[in-house]
Amino acid sequence: MSLSSPLLLFLAAALFSAASPYEMWNKVTLTHHWPSTFCSMEHCHSNISYWTLHGLWPDKGNDCNSSWHFNASQIEDLLPEMKKSWPDLLKPTSVSFWKYEWHKHGTCAAKADSLNTQHKYFSKALELYHKVDLSSILKKFGIVPSTKYYSFSQIEDVIQNFYSIKPKIQCAFLAKNTDAQALGQIEICFDANFSLLDCEKHSGVETVSKRGWHQLDDVSNTSGFKVCDHDTPVYYPPFS
Ligand SMILES: *[C@@H]1O[C@H](CO)[C@@H](O)[C@H](O)[C@H]1NC(C)=O
Ligand SMILES: *[C@@H]1O[C@H](CO)[C@@H](O)[C@H](O)[C@H]1NC(C)=O
Ligand SMILES: *[C@@H]1O[C@H](CO)[C@@H](O)[C@H](O)[C@H]1NC(C)=O
Ligand SMILES: *[C@@H]1O[C@H](CO)[C@@H](O)[C@H](O)[C@H]1NC(C)=O
Ligand SMILES: *[C@@H]1O[C@H](CO)[C@@H](O)[C@H](O)[C@H]1NC(C)=O
Repeated sequence: MSLSSPLLLFLAAALFSAASPYEMWNKVTLTHHWPSTFCSMEHCHSNISYWTLHGLWPDKGNDCNSSWHFNASQIEDLLPEMKKSWPDLLKPTSVSFWKYEWHKHGTCAAKADSLNTQHKYFSKALELYHKVDLSSILKKFGIVPSTKYYSFSQIEDVIQNFYSIKPKIQCAFLAKNTDAQALGQIEICFDANFSLLDCEKHSGVETVSKRGWHQLDDVSNTSGFKVCDHDTPVYYPPFS
């Protein structure tokens, strides 16, 4: 049988289109979270008053290589910056958050040569985080933590106008502010060349539960973040 046999072509196409853990990604999402909202949900304490990194997530795959262990000594030079910009809000002195993110997302991001070591992965995330500089941009356009509420479009417009792409903005309902949604996560997306790209509104949302860092999708209703509602006032909580 020759290789051009329609059956073989069909089988080959089916094989290569199947979601494999080693499939190359097309988009990475830089996810920021707001410590005050996060800690209201997770009962932690944080006095951090800037957006911190949650992760850098490729759009293909989770846990792509379980034998590629996180090794903090490979990012030793980045640790001071990691502690500041990508803190574990639950366990500030632990590396467990970075380890989790590496195993779940980094090992998949590593499919690209640009991110194929732990050092490249974490330093690229930090680089993008500083380039985006979300906290400064929001502040520059008058979006600051406040006890007064914003409209959702005030916040979305600032981000969309400044970066010229669609972000994904997630909120959570907090027990103490039932009349508003609290700003929780802001995602900014990039293509494989790290150029800004529109985020899709409906893709996975990662959050945590009492059991630790884990994945929820945004149609699930548990305590996690959801894409903000357009018509509900937005609370951007100062740190508590
Ligand atoms: C608040 O932040 C400062 C540094 O900015 C730190 O020294 C202090 O321990 C923090 N307080 C709490 C309660 O976390
Ligand atoms: C998984 O990680 C290990 C350790 O770094 C490496 O030797 C191996 O080539 C990786 N496997 C794949 C399929 O990338
Ligand atoms: C972690 O990385 C360091 C530096 O590259 C290396 O010397 C060490 O052997 C690694 N540890 C493990 C457990 O792989
Ligand atoms: C990335 O850049 C390379 C070289 O400039 C180009 O060929 C490629 O099409 C770009 N990819 C994307 C997704 O923009
Ligand atoms: C989802 O949330 C609504 C409103 O808060 C609640 O009534 C409903 O029971 C929740 N559903 C699940 C599956 O938790």
